[in-house]
Amino acid sequence: QPSAEGIRSLIDARLHLEGPMLPIVHAIQAEYGYVPEMALPLIADALNLTAAEVHGVVSFYHDFRHAPAGRHVLKICRAEACQASGGTAIAERTLKKLGIDWNGTTANGAVTVEPVYCLGLCACGPAAMVDGTVVGRVDDARMDKLLSEAGA
Ligand code: FES
Repeated sequence: QPSAEGIRSLIDARLHLEGPMLPIVHAIQAEYGYVPEMALPLIADALNLTAAEVHGVVSFYHDFRHAPAGRHVLKICRAEACQASGGTAIAERTLKKLGIDWNGTTANGAVTVEPVYCLGLCACGPAAMVDGTVVGRVDDARMDKLLSEAGA
């Protein structure tokens, strides 16, 4: 569980870095699996910024989570090549089927769906990734299989 004390020590250990903000936020996410709201004012304080400024940076990067992820993380590629090969429809159908939006987690806590911008599999899109394993040529059937394997 995130604590102010724990977060402060992650911040302190990185204050000496040049441009410490991103390393700090990465460290917090690595420790807790997401960036808790309570971390923002602590970071702001340490870096002499406003909480709004820190919030702006954290929300700019798609990699940072604002809530704990589900047991599995499904990333669907939203970059151009995959969009052109049918990724948009796959993503829309998947989110609709799960009843969530991007970055949402299914009610049973099984799957979080996040956007990703190119997985390097452009030639065999649409591409997705489940818990770090990339999957190419995702069609409806393959997606359904991934979802059921993940317990969604
Ligand atoms: Fe999707 Fe590159 S555009 S993998």
